[in-house]
Amino acid sequence: MTTPAARIIIDRHYIAADIDPRIYGGFAEHLGKHIYTGMYEPGHATADANGFRMDVIELVRGLGMPIIRYPGGNFVSGYDWEDGVGPKGERPKRLDLAWGVTETNQFGTNEFMDWCKLVGTEPMLAVNLGTRGIDDARKLVEYCNHPGGTALSDLRKQHGYRAPHAIKTWCLGNEVDGFWQMGTKTATEYGRIAREASKLMKAVDRRIETILCGSSGRAMPTFGHWEWESLMEAYDQIDYVSLHTYYDDHGGDMAAFLAEPENMGDFIREAASVCDAVKATKKSRKTLMLSFDEWNVWFPENNLIDRSPTWPELSKRESDVYDMADVLCVGGMLLTLLENAARVRIACIAQLVNVLAPILTEPGGPAWRQTIWWPFALTSQYGRGQVLHTPVVAPVYDAKNRDAVPVIKSVTVLADTADGPALHIFMINREPSGAPVDIEIDVRGCFPCGSMVHHCIRHDVLRTENTIDAPNAITPMVTEHVVDANGEIHLRLAGWSWNLVRIGLVG
Ligand code: AHR
Repeated sequence: MTTPAARIIIDRHYIAADIDPRIYGGFAEHLGKHIYTGMYEPGHATADANGFRMDVIELVRGLGMPIIRYPGGNFVSGYDWEDGVGPKGERPKRLDLAWGVTETNQFGTNEFMDWCKLVGTEPMLAVNLGTRGIDDARKLVEYCNHPGGTALSDLRKQHGYRAPHAIKTWCLGNEVDGFWQMGTKTATEYGRIAREASKLMKAVDRRIETILCGSSGRAMPTFGHWEWESLMEAYDQIDYVSLHTYYDDHGGDMAAFLAEPENMGDFIREAASVCDAVKATKKSRKTLMLSFDEWNVWFPENNLIDRSPTWPELSKRESDVYDMADVLCVGGMLLTLLENAARVRIACIAQLVNVLAPILTEPGGPAWRQTIWWPFALTSQYGRGQVLHTPVVAPVYDAKNRDAVPVIKSVTVLADTADGPALHIFMINREPSGAPVDIEIDVRGCFPCGSMVHHCIRHDVLRTENTIDAPNAITPMVTEHVVDANGEIHLRLAGWSWNLVRIGLVG
């Protein structure tokens, strides 16, 4: 096997963008075993008095998520939030038409708020603009955020929550252009409803920010003109536009699978272009930011609605089990978010526990880290600060879904750590034959350097998963090195590996 050479040139002064930590957000939906037996399982050995699984909370904390979206997703488009508040014994059971199960409503808005506090994260709530509309949206904001003295805010107090929840970030519906969505709309219909919903919600609490639903995916026939038409209606009233994407592994075609993070980058730049075209047309001074509030790898065979005629209370849906290959795609998608940090201010991996998530649980049993937990946790921990402009010179390959894909994907972050400034260099070796790649990192623009730590995630067998029986099959290896006196670092990046090199800067 050949070992092609690559080179990265780093100068700490070439700052591209500040990183908004909210790009390391999550997403919790009433879907599969996400909420019930994932986050909430009264009677579980680790459950607290509220029924929250503390083993799961520990693993969620390790992901360092500053924000988590809730309660959907497709689920929110048929959700009556009033069903999920107040005494649990009085909450109604409802058919969940999004996912074909019976929703017991034992976990709702207030439980989510309590859960977020325990985790140490900020909530991001979605309102139902599918089966409901602007009136319910404003009422939910009043219930959650108004201090008191009105029927809805006093109802919250009666439910045990004296202080307002102060939820700042709100999604205006979910994937409204999707034919599968309850209450699908045209772009103009949606734009008007989103505008009015946002207007009323902000009238209740002017501190909030709202996210308009972009098209549900780049491959949708609506993509582009959906954003244009809905923004022509709602531009002045909203703060972000959402993007969603899921990639599958092209039947094991690694070249194509690992090229997808580059397609994600095109998607971001295209959505930003449409936002800017509307800005120009409206002669607006406001620049919209992006919220990539659903992204992950998702296997198409699991991407189905459970149409069981029995409407079970506990979903029978299988969860995706991720392997080493998925580490590389998820890791690459995180680097794409960093590359676009100037425009993407919020992002939420979908989802958080079970279904398609970095954490798996067994009802009544353990919780463990999927393989993709690791690149997320390490990027979230070390990918904070400022993204640098770093030229990466590397051989390229052509895949069936993209040409000229560099075999190394790399982003460098200038971080402000407790030990002083540091370079955090993320590198993914996606050379399609699985060959190692020799890399030279030129850090002369950052000299003098201190110690260097290398985290590497790899495995000889690409299909290795973390399972209930082998929960640590994929974990990072950590080694320490010394930076050469001439400011050059030479590394051999193992075939199909995820890497982080941390270099302390002196001064
Ligand atoms: O994350 C799973 C589903 O994918 C969400 O409910 C929906 O918004 C998307 O289609």
